[in-house]
Amino acid sequence: MKGALFDLDGVIADTAVFHFKAWRKLIKDNFDRELPDELEEKTKGVSRSDSLKVILDYLKIDLPQAEFNRLAAEKNNVYRGYLQTLTEKDILPGMAKLISDLKEHGVKLALASASQNGPFILEKLGLSEAFDAVADPTKVAKGKPAPDIYLAAADALGFKPEDCVGFEDAIAGVTAINDAHAVSIGIGSKKEVGKADFCFDKTVDINYADVKRAWENFHE
Ligand code: BG6
Ligand code: MG
Repeated sequence: MKGALFDLDGVIADTAVFHFKAWRKLIKDNFDRELPDELEEKTKGVSRSDSLKVILDYLKIDLPQAEFNRLAAEKNNVYRGYLQTLTEKDILPGMAKLISDLKEHGVKLALASASQNGPFILEKLGLSEAFDAVADPTKVAKGKPAPDIYLAAADALGFKPEDCVGFEDAIAGVTAINDAHAVSIGIGSKKEVGKADFCFDKTVDINYADVKRAWENFHE
C-alpha cells in the first residue's frame, strides 16, 4: 500500500450536507420548488454541473446555457458562504488520526475530489501540508462515476492505482475507485457504498491497521 486517495466531501470534511443545503436554497430562491431527500445521494460525488443537470431533470426544467451557468455559479456562492466557518473541528471523527498514521507509515496522500473547492477546504481544515498531491477535477475528461480522477490522483503520486487505497462515501465515487482498480474503502450504509471492497459505517470506525489489512486481504 503505497498511496491513499481521498474523496473530500463526506470523507474528510463534514461538507456533504452543505452541498445539498445550497442546492435546496438555490432551487427555492429561483423556482420556489423543493428537492426530495433522495436527490442528495444522486448528487453526491457528482460534479457541480452534472449535479445541476440531475436536479433540473428531476424538476423537468430546461434552461439556456447562460442561465444554467449562472445557477451553477450562484450555488457555488451559497456553498462558499456555508464554508466560511469551517475549521479543523469540521474534520470528520477519526480522519485526522488516519491521515497522520498513514503518513507515519510512509503512505503518500492524494486528493481525488470532484470539488473545485478542494484546495480551499483543505486549507481551512489545516490539511494542505498533509497532502502530497491534489488531482484537479477540471483537468480530467470525465467526472465520477468515471475512474479518471482516481487515475489522475494515483498518477500524481507516481503510483499505479493497484498500489493505492481509495476512500469514498458515495455510490459514484466507489464505482470510480473500482473502475480505477484501486482498493475501495466505502464509508456509510450498504445502500450507499455496498459495492466497495471494504465498508465501514462511519469515519470514526476506520483505522490504519484495518485499512492495511483490507489492502493485504484484497491482494492475497
Ligand atoms: C463532490 C460533492 O465532492 O464535489 C458533490 O460530493 C459536488 O456534491 C462536487 O457537486 C463538486 O463540488 P464543487 O465544490 O466543485 O461544486
Ligand atoms: Mg464524498
